[in-house]
Amino acid sequence: MQENIIPHQFSISKEDRMSLKGHNALLLWFTGLSGSGKSTIANAVEKALVTNKIHTYTLDGDNVRKGLNNNLGFSPEDRKENIRRIAEVANLMIDAGLVVLAAFVSPYQKDRERIRSIVGEKQYLEIFVNTPLEECERRDVKGLYAKARAGEIKNFTGINAPYEAPVNPDLEIDTTKMTVDEAVSEILKHLKTKLAKK
Ligand code: PPS
Repeated sequence: MQENIIPHQFSISKEDRMSLKGHNALLLWFTGLSGSGKSTIANAVEKALVTNKIHTYTLDGDNVRKGLNNNLGFSPEDRKENIRRIAEVANLMIDAGLVVLAAFVSPYQKDRERIRSIVGEKQYLEIFVNTPLEECERRDVKGLYAKARAGEIKNFTGINAPYEAPVNPDLEIDTTKMTVDEAVSEILKHLKTKLAKK
């Protein structure tokens, strides 16, 4: 399928775009159970970055599963395709010079490894929002855990579908032990050198 696809060499590169913005482009990938706090932390990090004049974009279920990926469900195959497409979109946004924040359950180690290989090691930061299942279920902000326990949702992560914890995340945040502000500071500390243009 790819044999007759010959990329055009455009004059403006990612480096040119990054120079214009004054910071490096990268992907912050938040993984964790539903209700773990991924989107809350990503949102707070994005606010802090924008305050510091960093150009960002956040990808999460609302803007992806309702649009680009509205034909995908929660089987392992669909989740794999969901994550692949998001990684490719994030890669285009990195090419545009942005700091991309992505908050997805992304429960499979293999799918997360693929993100790293699509985007490139240097531009990828994996953040494991490690809130225990009991706490996510206690919060049950969207009422989905109760539905899953009642058998109304198939393949619900943590209840009747697996969550493979990251083997070697760049950062791990336990929201039962850290406030959102503390999590943001920890992430920003880690980002400082990655964002600075050499
Ligand atoms: S995945 O696994 O990365 O493809 O999932 P993701 O695109 O992040 O979508 C997760 C959000 O969809 C809701 N939801 C479910 N989550 C897990 N399992 C099942 N079966 C499911 N069905 C619906 C849920 O609200 C997730 O949102 P968050 O923000 O993570 O709570």
